[in-house]
Amino acid sequence: INSSQQGLIRLHEKAKEVYHHMLVNTAVGQPALDYLLSRGLTEELIEEFEIGFAPNERQFLRQVFANEKVEMSLLSQSGLFVERENGELVDRFYQRIMFPIQDAKGRTIGFSGRILITTDFPGENQPKYLNSPETELFNKRQVLFNFDKARPTIRKENTVFLFEGFMDVIAAWQAGVKNGIASMGTSLTSQQISAIERIAGEIVISYDGDKAGLAATDRAIGLLDEHSNLDLAILQLPEKLDPDDYVRKYGNAAFYELAYHGRETVFGFKMAYLRQNRNLSNEMEQLDYVTALLQELVKVDSLLAQDRYLTQIATEFHLSRETLQQQLNEFKQRQR
Ligand code: GTP
Ligand code: MN
Ligand code: MN
Ligand code: MN
Ligand code: MN
Repeated sequence: INSSQQGLIRLHEKAKEVYHHMLVNTAVGQPALDYLLSRGLTEELIEEFEIGFAPNERQFLRQVFANEKVEMSLLSQSGLFVERENGELVDRFYQRIMFPIQDAKGRTIGFSGRILITTDFPGENQPKYLNSPETELFNKRQVLFNFDKARPTIRKENTVFLFEGFMDVIAAWQAGVKNGIASMGTSLTSQQISAIERIAGEIVISYDGDKAGLAATDRAIGLLDEHSNLDLAILQLPEKLDPDDYVRKYGNAAFYELAYHGRETVFGFKMAYLRQNRNLSNEMEQLDYVTALLQELVKVDSLLAQDRYLTQIATEFHLSRETLQQQLNEFKQRQR
């Protein structure tokens, strides 16, 4: 680690403290604090995740560092500022709830800021989340939110929960699921997968229960199937909820129970997922569905599981088990 990297970390640690102070100790931060508490976060969680608030000013953090006489070159490398045409640096993050992001060693290297919408600040045309840009230290392809804090539990349980959002990781933590992580709103990269594989044997994909979340789950399954040796399980949430919504609606204990006893197999997920958008009272779509299922069933390693699913499909669609088995064998041959 070189001296510019050290400088960047120092800036981020300082920014984290200042933003956190604004959230928990000031009138300017009060609406943000009220918002978080109204969403069910506790003060304890806000401390644990060192959540902060960037006020609606473009010179707020800039001024903090001006007072500390930090070099311009370091400031402009940090990603915490944007450069105006006249060369002036202004705060990148304003009117946002700030989630500090740590690297695997627990050092703060970036932020994700969630917009705080108020009557004075409708936030039109602003993205809901704004992330730090790529810097010497902050690499979106590498970073996993909460990886450092989740690591001991991931190791202990040999399992990691993959969530879509930061709020989901935090809500799960509150519910006692402390081995949750999230990417920066993108699909997993090979670097992230390797980092996970080094400490876990199983990954539970726990994306949002809405349509986008289901599609992302399907993509993540494909990705992990192809690029990892991790065992996969799916945690699907009802009523289009995300994990955070679920915790708020049904409570910590219900979420914990679901996380540990309500998981599905990949094939179980596929059965439901492939059913969507198909009209199964139509004969052709029915056969098409069964074909798609058998192609998925090829990937199921356990012969016992295969056997059970074959029976299930045969029963539902009034097909002979022998024919299904033959078709499955044929797909297996072709796959090799
Ligand atoms: P809440 O509305 O606060 O509950 O957020 P959420 O965590 O449910 O967020 P959502 O399901 O909309 O998105 C999940 C994740 O996708 C977020 O944590 C972000 O990482 C990412 N994401 C969502 N919206 C944006 C956006 O506008 N810009 C970027 N860069 N990422 C986003
Ligand atoms: Mn504090
Ligand atoms: Mn979502
Ligand atoms: Mn969500
Ligand atoms: Mn949410």
